[in-house]
Amino acid sequence: MKKFIVVFVSAFLMCIVTFATVQANMADEKELILSHNQPTDHPVHKSLMIFAEKVEEKSDGKLKINVFPNERLGSEREAIEMTQSNAIQFTKVSASALESFSKSYSLFSMPYLFESQDEYRQIMRSEDVQNAFYPTTEDNGFIALTHYDAGVRNMYTSNREIETNEDMKGLRTRVQPSETNIQMIDALGGTPTPLSYGEVYTAFQSGMIDAAENNETALTSSNHGEVAKNYYYTEHAIVPDLLIMSKEAVDSLSDEEMQWINDAAEESSIEHEDIWNAEVETSIETAQNEMDVEFHDIDKSSFIEAVQPLQQSFREDEETRKQLEIIEEEADR
Ligand code: GCU
Repeated sequence: MKKFIVVFVSAFLMCIVTFATVQANMADEKELILSHNQPTDHPVHKSLMIFAEKVEEKSDGKLKINVFPNERLGSEREAIEMTQSNAIQFTKVSASALESFSKSYSLFSMPYLFESQDEYRQIMRSEDVQNAFYPTTEDNGFIALTHYDAGVRNMYTSNREIETNEDMKGLRTRVQPSETNIQMIDALGGTPTPLSYGEVYTAFQSGMIDAAENNETALTSSNHGEVAKNYYYTEHAIVPDLLIMSKEAVDSLSDEEMQWINDAAEESSIEHEDIWNAEVETSIETAQNEMDVEFHDIDKSSFIEAVQPLQQSFREDEETRKQLEIIEEEADR
């Protein structure tokens, strides 16, 4: 059924793209489609709208980007597949969703990869790091253009308390559908339940899961705070969101057009940092005051200890070790 929907949506989008291209040729304008999975009040949506506005401004209206939020065109996985076939030209996804397209990206799901959000921000802005990751999916039909902050990921539960990783035992924990995320929850002692983001709220509601892990905006923007009242600062991962673009679309545009797109991507990513900081603050206040969510600082040491073997496996793999060295060199560790 899912496959049918993907084929159907792809065919439908192909028609829109063809129609848009015909129209565009007539008017010397090009319409491009960007899909993502966040609601319109989410900071990443706001920054993607800034990206779209900047592209339109820089190109003097010659390039127009239509943004489809909220998984309207499909989950992250489906959106990546549509980007590969150029049914859509851009999508914003978590780096975790890219892991099955390029092993390098699995590194961003490695628990405790970054020491702090500041370190993460400095590393992600480095050209060496960008060059080491962004082109790695080229043979798979897309490249990355920039990243957007997606916060620090922490555990939250519907009705179970967590003090150490021992308390994760038997916790059916939603993870992003990625091998590393599954391994991480396994290592922590929980029971990993991979689901796409749009399924998390109802999975909590129906009792299918007891826990999930994400940044604070998920509590308010996707209403997870209605069904999960305890938020624990395990700070186990900082996973960037990435804006990816279809290789076929890249090849069909001129150098000048790609320059507008790249500049707009970079500028919107920089502006996103302040937008993100402000929205996280607001989310915490709203979750506390209007949803009765309790935020708990906890001792992370048992979590850090439990994932050591998983971290080690990244050092033993030739491909991820190389990428890890690039990150560590940039971090000056
Ligand atoms: C973050 C991320 C999304 C991702 C989500 C998830 O919110 O920004 O891209 O889909 O986590 O946990 O699935």
